[in-house]
Amino acid sequence: MRAVLTAGPTLEPIDPVRFLSNRSSGRQGYALAEALAALGIEVTLVSGPTALNDPPGVATVRVETAREMLAAVEDALPADVFIAVAAVADWRPAEPSGVKLKLDKSGIGALKLVENPDILRTIAALPPGARPRLVAGFAAETHDMLVHARDKRLRKGADWIFANDVSGDVMGGTHNTLTLITPDGETRFGPAPKDEIARQIAQALHGALAR
Ligand code: CTP
Repeated sequence: MRAVLTAGPTLEPIDPVRFLSNRSSGRQGYALAEALAALGIEVTLVSGPTALNDPPGVATVRVETAREMLAAVEDALPADVFIAVAAVADWRPAEPSGVKLKLDKSGIGALKLVENPDILRTIAALPPGARPRLVAGFAAETHDMLVHARDKRLRKGADWIFANDVSGDVMGGTHNTLTLITPDGETRFGPAPKDEIARQIAQALHGALAR
């Protein structure tokens, strides 16, 4: 059984000293990669920049930008399951500057953004045969969590969505609470340490794939 995961933030260069990014420690994705590997699953983790060590027993590929992340995921396929945990920057500067931009209207003030590829949506839309059997994503929400997460599952074409309430200190914190949304119903995990949550959802993924 093979799994491919994304984790951490992406980093989109503005100029040699600045970037756009999202708040993400990578902890939940790394813990999930490690928990899946502990179940005997062959895991490739495609990670944006984090302060974490490579998880044991996991092939870890380090990238910076969303486009690099998508290319590394495509290289790592085929897989039985794809899990998008990364906090991908939705936008990137259209043309990163080779020189440091000045803080005026012609510099940072004129920054143009273009949309990044949606990695989860791209993998979920692969044709049968190329598409992993199970495609799962995370929905980090600060309000109306379940409404947004249910909608996100359908919009992105994912099979499963783990809804994550990030209104508290979840980002960068050690504990988490998740609600798994599938076509068959909804299940709550936690509140518990992120590695305990990871073990529980790894079991759920393993169980679904073994069926
Ligand atoms: N995701 C992705 N590629 C992107 C954006 C998001 O793979 N370019 C994945 C994330 O890894 C996560 C899921 O999509 O599994 C939802 O991410 P989220 O940031 O919550 O959703 P957005 O698409 O950014 O929606 P919104 O900002 O409207 O909440």
